[in-house]
Parts: sequence; structure tokens; C-alpha cells
Amino acid sequence: MSRLIVVSNRVSVPQAMGAAGAQGGLAVALSAALREHRGIWFGWSGKETESFTGHLDMQRNQDVTTATIDLEPQDIEEYYNGYANRTLWPLFHYRIDLTEYDRNFGEGYERVNARFADSVLPLIEPDDLVWVHDYHLLPLGSMLREKGVTNRMGLFLHIPWPPTRLFVSLPNHEQLVASMLQYDLIGLQTEEWLDSFTHYLKKEMGLKVSDDGVIEYEGRRIVARAFPIGIDYEEFVASARTELAQGAYQRLKDSLGHGRKMLIGVDRLDYSKGLGERFDSFDRFLTDNPEMAKDVVLLQIAPPSRGEVASYQLIRHDLERKAGHINGAHADVAWVPIRYVNRGYPRAELAGFYRAADIGLVTPLRDGMNLVAKEYVAAQDSEDPGVLILSRFAGAAPQMEDAVLVNPHSTEDVSDAIRQALHMPLPERRRRHERLLASVRDEDVVRWRENFVGALRGEHGAEVPLD
Ligand code: G6P
Repeated sequence: MSRLIVVSNRVSVPQAMGAAGAQGGLAVALSAALREHRGIWFGWSGKETESFTGHLDMQRNQDVTTATIDLEPQDIEEYYNGYANRTLWPLFHYRIDLTEYDRNFGEGYERVNARFADSVLPLIEPDDLVWVHDYHLLPLGSMLREKGVTNRMGLFLHIPWPPTRLFVSLPNHEQLVASMLQYDLIGLQTEEWLDSFTHYLKKEMGLKVSDDGVIEYEGRRIVARAFPIGIDYEEFVASARTELAQGAYQRLKDSLGHGRKMLIGVDRLDYSKGLGERFDSFDRFLTDNPEMAKDVVLLQIAPPSRGEVASYQLIRHDLERKAGHINGAHADVAWVPIRYVNRGYPRAELAGFYRAADIGLVTPLRDGMNLVAKEYVAAQDSEDPGVLILSRFAGAAPQMEDAVLVNPHSTEDVSDAIRQALHMPLPERRRRHERLLASVRDEDVVRWRENFVGALRGEHGAEVPLD
């Protein structure tokens, strides 16, 4: 079996049962993939060094070999805080209003991708498969090709791909996409993002794309396909059975008081997650349903993220103000409607919190996939399951149509969904949960990984001829 060289911006191997809740889905999914294959996970250590040396720190952790480099302050500022999180992230989440264009960011992004290429190059052996992740590293494959790497290389994008009309606002968009076409396989989360990507290839670059996603470019064939990511179902269910999870469940239930229902939201503190709109919708629910108001609590867990970027500082400030305002307007001596918590929790504790919640409120304005929706479903007690309220703009929505799907921009829609979920009869909750659980269990991270790696090896019709 070929080794897998995984490359991503961050390298963080979660401790088996204790990873911080602040981690995005990527870290959890990748360490599961690497445990199965021999290979190496390469990326940034998350640490800063005064000037870049290219020193590789190799470690073995939880059966996974990692190799990391430190970056210098200018790299972090221009590549990570700059191009990745001030340019690509907002643009790819349809937030052109928050997107900043700055040549220095672009140069920093190229420079760091070249540094990644130089550093990972000596680790690559002839039969290795190279699997690059996410928007931080779109041009990495082309830089490795320039250095003579002929291995099969794949890219998986964990975030949405924007509509062509938005994407063309990126200076050098064509050069960026051309560099991506040096991979053999490009994976996106959903058919919708895949459609946007192939639309760009056809309309802006005049390329041919077959129905099977085979792209012909400069005499090469590249495959673009949707591979919806899932959770590590077995691992998550096992962590939900631990004492830590049970204890978290009990503590939270006890704190609610008799008969009170709980809604839960768990998100990195990011404007794409629709937290402000969520608070407004809960406010509307409390106002429109005074007879139910004191019987519900919203627990919002939101670990801060990317705090050096102004739009993240703003959203944090905004949410504090909103939570304070809503609590001030509705609370009484023995009840506060929103518990707003700015920290992460170990996954096992989160599993306990999810199980204690009658409603999972997952309402991003735009999201590549959203694994919280899947974890919420996996954590429920099948005899008496909670209800998932899910944004139709999450990449998870097409797989989870038995959730109560909502438009997160409409406070009325979300408020109605909360009322519907609170009144939902047990047989209907069970019926919906059973179907949701089947898809979360079957379309898990193992299947995602096998499908992607299989396609990267050229299995599953990756060599199909053009129409
Ligand atoms: C999203 C991205 C990941 C990223 C994670 C956490 O899930 O797709 O690539 O690692 O957010 O963001 P951070 O900037 O803290 O790495």
C-alpha cells in the first residue's frame, strides 16, 4: 500500500478522548486517516520563529508521524492572517464585503507555499500519494511539480467554492486555478461547490469538463469530484460513552432545573457561522412565545478563533453585546436565556452536552460541510432523540434532509423551527433521527478517506475518457 503524505496548514493530532473543542473538523478527520496508513503529516507547527530556517521537527504522536516547520512573523501575517483568512476565507464564504485584497498578502501566500514545497520535498518517496488540504495551500501542488515531483497528488478543499461572479473579483484568479490544475484530483465537499468550480473552468478558462468531472488541461487529465466529509463515527460514539461524557451530561441536566429544555450551538467564533442571526432568532422566539420562554435555554459554545483578524474581533464584540442585550431584556432572577461560553471543550464533554440538548441549532450562513450537525445526531439517545435544526446553506444539508431545514437569515423561519422542534411528537423525532443517524454512520470519515484515496490512486473511474 502506498504511503500517504498529508499536507495541511496546521498539524494537530487530537488526543484520543481529549481534543479541544476548538479544533475544526479537519484535524479530527486527518488524524483518523493517518492512523490507518503509514505516512507523514506535514505542516506548520503553529509556532513563530524570528527568521525562517526550514528546520523539520519530526515527532510520533498517537501512531501518527508528524513533521512541522515554524514560520516567521511576516509569513504568519501575510499568508495566514492575510491571504488565507482576510482574502480567501471571506471570499469563499460569499463575504465579498469582508474580503481584503493586498499584493503583500498574495506574495506572502506564494512565499509560504514555496517554503512548504521545499520542506516537504525530501519527505516524498516515489510511490507516495500526496494529499494536500484546504485553501491555505492551493498552489502547493504546482510548486512541487516544478521541483520534479511526479507522484499522484490530490487536493481536498474543506470550504465552499464561490460562484464564478464572486470568484472573479480575486486578482490573479486565473493563475490560482491554473496552479490547482497541477493536482491529479480535486475534491470538494458538495455537488454545489463542485458545480461552481467546474462552471469557472468552463466559462472563464474555456475548458472541457466531462459529466464524470474529468478536466482536460494542457494535455493532462484531472478529476474534480464531490467527497462529502463525515465524522469518525465509531470514535465519537465511544467518546460519548466515557465517564467524562456522562459527567458532562449530568452536570448540564442538573443545572437546567426541572423540565427546562435546552438548545445547543457549538461553533468556532466565525462570522460564517451566523451566530448573530442565531441570537436574533432566539430573541424573536422568546418575544413571540412568552408562554414558553422561561422553559428554554440556549447554550452557545464559541471558542475564539483568528483573533488577529479585525473581522473576528468585531464579531466577538458584536456577539458579546447581543448576548448581554438579550439576557438583560428577558432574564429573571432564576433564569438567563443565553449561556454564552467562549472556550472549547474536550470532545467527550461535548458529546455529553449534545446529548443533554433537546435541539441542536446549526445555522451557518455558509459552511463547507459542518460536522457539528453530524456529531449532534451521533450523540443523541435513540429512544428519546433531540431535533436538529440545520441551515440549508451548510454543506451537510443535502445529506441531512430529515433535519428541520431553515433559512438562517430569516429570524422568523428559525423562530418557527424552534417552536416546531419543541412541540415535535416523539414518533416523529425518532423517525427523523433514525434516518439522520443512518447517513451519519454510513457516510463517515472512513468512507470519505477511502473514496478520496481510491480516486487519487486512479480507482473508481478516475481514468474515464472524455465525452
Ligand atoms: C476550518 C478550516 C480548517 C481550519 C479550521 C480552524 O475548518 O477548513 O482548515 O483548520 O477551520 O481554523 P484555524 O484558522 O484555527 O486553523
